[in-house]
Amino acid sequence: MLCLPKASSTNDVALHLAVQGASEGTVVTADEQIKGRGRYGRRWVSTHGKSLAFSIILRPKLHADELPEITLAASVALAKAFESYRLKPLIKWPNDVLLKGGKVCGILTETGPKKDKMPSVILGIGINLNQQSWDFPKELRKTATSFYRSSGRKVEPVEFFRRVLLCLEETYHWVAERRFSKVLFEWRKRAATLGHQVKVAQAGRVFYGQAIDVDEKGALWVRNDTGIVEKVVSGDVEMLPL
Ligand code: BTN
Repeated sequence: MLCLPKASSTNDVALHLAVQGASEGTVVTADEQIKGRGRYGRRWVSTHGKSLAFSIILRPKLHADELPEITLAASVALAKAFESYRLKPLIKWPNDVLLKGGKVCGILTETGPKKDKMPSVILGIGINLNQQSWDFPKELRKTATSFYRSSGRKVEPVEFFRRVLLCLEETYHWVAERRFSKVLFEWRKRAATLGHQVKVAQAGRVFYGQAIDVDEKGALWVRNDTGIVEKVVSGDVEMLPL
């Protein structure tokens, strides 16, 4: 485990180490990220001492089209960590963990160079723990939350981190042992998206519909407004108010 006071992005550091041959399971954390990034080039803001930002080097024996399994498994692990504090998280497809409707974690999975001898996957995770609303940038205050904001309780970051790592180990093994059905079963139990009206932005196109299921590869099935079922493999899904 590499604990840094500051990093541009823990995903970048982990990727660099992975290319140099670091072993599976290596964890990189940073108290502060200068250029924390989220999905779709968005930025990810961590708050010093009040949040967790870390990346794990994985070397799964999976095909490229099976990699989303890792992200779904990670979202289940994060949900389980919150549940160990008796909170009730939900998961918005594919991997946003929500507490009382607000986003409390983000997961960014990136792949290392394909020509690498031992191809790697970097699992980057940001978790909001003890932030107050003013700790978030103004534009995020409505959508983001923290453990503290949604429960009124402060949490010890190192203890939370310990629990998350244990849960990640458990759910990653389900994927590595080809038991993705177990991940799906646990994911569906916590699904915030299924049954919801959604707006999907995928490959430069936007459509609306109802999220009806997640298939055995983790893709979201959406019945669009013309009644056709579309498969969303990667994309941005917004849940619309009921
Ligand atoms: C998202 O929801 O858009 C994903 C956010 C992922 C943030 C984490 S924080 C640790 C790791 N390093 C980064 O730069 N990003 C991920």
